Amino acid sequence: MSVFAPNAVLSVSGIGKTYAQPVLSGIDLTLMRGEVLALTGENGAGKSTLSKIIGGLVTPTTGQMQFQGQDYCPGSRTQAEDLGIRMVMQELNLLPTLSVAENLFLHNLPSHGGWISRKQLRKAAIEAMAQVGLDAIDPDTLVGELGIGHQQMVEIARNLIGDCHVLILDEPTAMLTAREVEMLFEQITRLQARGVSIIYISHRLEELARVAQRIAVLRDGNLVCVEPMANYNSEQLVTLMVGRELGEHIDMGPRKIGAPALTVQGLTRSDKVRDVSFEVRAGEIYGISGLIGAGRTELLRLIFGADTADSGTVALGSPAQVVSIRSPADAVGHGIALITEDRKGEGLLLTQSISANIALGNMPVISSGGFVSNGDEMALAQRQIDAMRIRSSSPTQLVSELSGGNQQKVVIGRWLERDCSVLLFDEPTRGIDVG
Ligand SMILES: Nc1ncnc2c1ncn2[C@@H]1O[C@H](COP(=O)(O)OP(=O)(O)O)[C@@H](O)[C@H]1O
Ligand SMILES: [Mg+2]
Repeated sequence: MSVFAPNAVLSVSGIGKTYAQPVLSGIDLTLMRGEVLALTGENGAGKSTLSKIIGGLVTPTTGQMQFQGQDYCPGSRTQAEDLGIRMVMQELNLLPTLSVAENLFLHNLPSHGGWISRKQLRKAAIEAMAQVGLDAIDPDTLVGELGIGHQQMVEIARNLIGDCHVLILDEPTAMLTAREVEMLFEQITRLQARGVSIIYISHRLEELARVAQRIAVLRDGNLVCVEPMANYNSEQLVTLMVGRELGEHIDMGPRKIGAPALTVQGLTRSDKVRDVSFEVRAGEIYGISGLIGAGRTELLRLIFGADTADSGTVALGSPAQVVSIRSPADAVGHGIALITEDRKGEGLLLTQSISANIALGNMPVISSGGFVSNGDEMALAQRQIDAMRIRSSSPTQLVSELSGGNQQKVVIGRWLERDCSVLLFDEPTRGIDVG
């Protein structure tokens, strides 16, 4: 039972959630006025589920909550929002075909006798956007035309409109540039000064240390610690999150670098990618960095055949053989895989099982005479579930039920099952955890 402390804003006690299996159990947690509480844990630990319960999107199986000294059991997200409990979800919730201003005030369009006042809407939108440092963007811009980082900031701005007492940010920086992260942190400090309490979910430990006063660590649906942030260094936190020492996984020993595997020469596409040449050797991890919009994604898409180059060549092996890659299918045929930041757009079938998704790229391995062997499909999936530590109940679990990072692991697992000679990763760690 929780005793409501005088400066507590929200407390949850004995909160549990069971789907097919328990995903949260016996969570006791109190959020203080004006504090930033970091919530961390590995993928699938239950962070999003806990925040959805607080945000009114998911009904807990057990337990109670109190908000400002009153029993709190929201029947919907709207109810929670009306009380000032707001949540910025991991998956964005904007309508791409509406303008920024319309998205911001979707549920609250300023009107005069039933007519929407465009002028007022514009003015209110400009104010809301300035709060998150987006003054440079015209509120009439369609959300779909914004980069993903800016979309994230619009989503945050939307949640700050009106009375906000508790703000939950679920992995807010996963898609932000360094500059946007700074803007977000400034905003968090301002909100805190106004007495807003923030639950900040992330596995970027260096960020947590910067913004949070206390930290709560979830592991397998259990709260394993709630402590002042200063009590832990990041190594200790990782051990708490994972429940084992990570050393063995981080130190993989010296890597063997072999002969050139991929040779890119003079690759060009309009003004996005201009005369790019480089070579990657077998066993080598070659990093491509740059700001959002610098052309990293465009470069990888060219190599993968998703776009056509104006000029330049891609060669494989040693001695380098120039290959003609006109489509992603050609690339795959040549043993090139692309893993992008957009899991849903890269051929993950959300309504299908893990095993079906992993088998997708690997039909030749598990079929004979045109028939797919179910046993082999399961064995293949189980191998990647073990190797990648995909948190799931079984190979037949639907991909849509997995947390984002675990969905990403399914995609990677699919490619690892094929004999790829070149793996292209575009922002692969968006949504992937430390373990
Ligand atoms: N709607 C759902 N149905 C079944 N299982 C779910 C559902 N939502 C989440 N889960 C499961 O609950 C666990 C916790 O997921 P989640 O809260 O998203 O973790 P986190 O945010 O910490 O990565 C995962 O194993 C996930 O597969
Ligand atoms: Mg999550």
